[in-house]
Amino acid sequence: GAPVEVDLGPIAEGQLVKLFWRGKLVFIRHRTSEEIKAAEDVNIASLRDPQADSERVKNGKPQWLVVYGNCTHLGCVPLSNQGEYKGWFCPCHGSVFDTSGRVRGGPAPINLPIPPYSFASDTKVVIG
Ligand code: FES
Repeated sequence: GAPVEVDLGPIAEGQLVKLFWRGKLVFIRHRTSEEIKAAEDVNIASLRDPQADSERVKNGKPQWLVVYGNCTHLGCVPLSNQGEYKGWFCPCHGSVFDTSGRVRGGPAPINLPIPPYSFASDTKVVIG
């Protein structure tokens, strides 16, 4: 599939946009400063799938989180801004993800993966 360009200008802080790339659901989340801080203030060693938030976002742009939008357990679509860590909550079997999309509870084995993407400008991201 061809890369998909997304204009970030209209995406307000706290807002989530869904799109499809190569038939897969992708979430772009414009994180608030509180959500970024919560994602950064985590003891990495305590995580099931240990990853720093800084490894999951692009340098200098921690406000933009881009993740695949299907639960890593059995593929349901998790609900945004819900669950104990206000990241995502999967209604199928209760997996919990934080504001970095990392699994924090429930049966999901790994974090929400990051698709390939880059910034074409400050307000344009290219998925793929
Ligand atoms: Fe999400 Fe099972 S599919 S917890």
